[in-house]
Amino acid sequence: MQVLENFPTKAAPFLDIKLCYKDLSQRWLYKNTNCLWKLVLLVFLGLCGMFMCVSGVERQMPYFRARRAYSISKARVSGHSRNVSVSNYQYYPQPATYDRKECRCTPVQKFAIFSMQRTGSGWFETLLNSHPNVSSHGEIFSVEKRRENMSTIKKTLDTVYSLDWDSSASKNECTAAVGLKWMLNQGLMEYKREVAAYLNRNSVSVIFLFRRNILRRYVSILANTFDREKKQFNGTHRAHVHSKEEASLLAAYKPTVNLTSLITYMKRIEEIMLDALLSFNGTRNMVVYYEDLVDMPAELKRVQEFLHVDCRELQSKHVKIHTLPLSGQIENWRELSTRLKGTKYESFVY
Ligand SMILES: *[C@@H]1O[C@H](CO)[C@@H](O)[C@H](O)[C@H]1NC(C)=O
Ligand SMILES: *[C@@H]1O[C@H](CO)[C@@H](O)[C@H](O)[C@H]1NC(C)=O
Ligand SMILES: *[C@@H]1O[C@H](CO)[C@@H](O)[C@H](O)[C@H]1NC(C)=O
Ligand SMILES: *[C@@H]1O[C@H](CO)[C@@H](O)[C@H](O)[C@H]1NC(C)=O
Ligand SMILES: *[C@@H]1O[C@H](CO)[C@@H](O)[C@H](O)[C@H]1NC(C)=O
Ligand SMILES: *[C@@H]1O[C@H](CO)[C@@H](O)[C@H](O)[C@H]1NC(C)=O
Repeated sequence: MQVLENFPTKAAPFLDIKLCYKDLSQRWLYKNTNCLWKLVLLVFLGLCGMFMCVSGVERQMPYFRARRAYSISKARVSGHSRNVSVSNYQYYPQPATYDRKECRCTPVQKFAIFSMQRTGSGWFETLLNSHPNVSSHGEIFSVEKRRENMSTIKKTLDTVYSLDWDSSASKNECTAAVGLKWMLNQGLMEYKREVAAYLNRNSVSVIFLFRRNILRRYVSILANTFDREKKQFNGTHRAHVHSKEEASLLAAYKPTVNLTSLITYMKRIEEIMLDALLSFNGTRNMVVYYEDLVDMPAELKRVQEFLHVDCRELQSKHVKIHTLPLSGQIENWRELSTRLKGTKYESFVY
């Protein structure tokens, strides 16, 4: 994940055009010129203003951008003889830092993966990024200053969705779907109302990635916390691994689960997941479960269709860490299975 933590590219859009505009309007005010000259200036100013409006203002104001995306897609559907069906969820960004060149007329879909730690989201994201037209920029909001308040969140998202965010996942001009991975505890639920409003205004689609077996997720958290302290790989901590040997090293640790707090903990996690689903139920979304991704490759097809990208065979180098049944992975498994017997969590144990 380290590679994905690049810094945003600072955008300084259209400074020179604004200067030209300012300069001209002052001359207009102070210089005594004849009528024809004034008319020429007026037309030029008009054109200058229109250009600013089309290319500058919309970059800063999502309202204008949304309007423009809408009007373009409408124009395409009605104005072209060719049958292009352009979804309202696709748009034509104009990055400040480069030119989209031949892909300028290829629409882009904005998305966000909403997930929780130890849900396989790192794996899911590397799968998506193996697609030549998908850029998913990682856990951008793990950096606290980017989620300090709604204006910093908005600024960060704006940079991502204008295709100006630079990371190892950037596909730049030929990106057809752009997004990020956002953990529920990284300011997302704290600002859920404002974020939902932003997503709807900007036509961003949400992919919820959850894990059904929250007990297994808990074991993964305990093992990850253990390695963060012990740094088993020659003094470095690894959250993800790329080989079976590395996986077995991390899986060798068998945590003892605190049975006093376990059920309360799992209830809390379920509440958080439900709250997220309800808070963004007005946003275009799909729910993906980690277990389905593991068992059914067709789930990835569903995701690619949702993102309006060509369906590909996706690949990842990540290797699953915990592969044994939980009985071989938890030190006090016997007590735990007794404790959960008869509860709705019983099936998670096996
Ligand atoms: C365009 O779409 C309409 C309705 O979906 C269909 O009836 C028509 O045949 C299409 N035209 C072309 C040229 O594909
Ligand atoms: C996907 O990426 C490839 C290679 O970069 C490019 O040729 C193609 O036009 C892109 N497709 C879309 C739909 O953007
Ligand atoms: C949000 O945080 C930034 C960065 O610390 C700060 O400059 C800005 O004033 C804050 N905005 C609001 C509305 O609190
Ligand atoms: C630690 O480093 C040694 C020497 O570089 C290497 O052989 C060994 O596999 C490493 N162990 C782990 C757990 O990465
Ligand atoms: C288990 O959790 C309870 C409640 O959070 C706590 O009071 C207790 O100290 C924990 N036990 C252990 C062994 O950590
Ligand atoms: C979304 O959830 C809220 C409850 O949080 C509910 O009142 C509302 O009707 C739901 N909207 C849709 C479109 O399902």
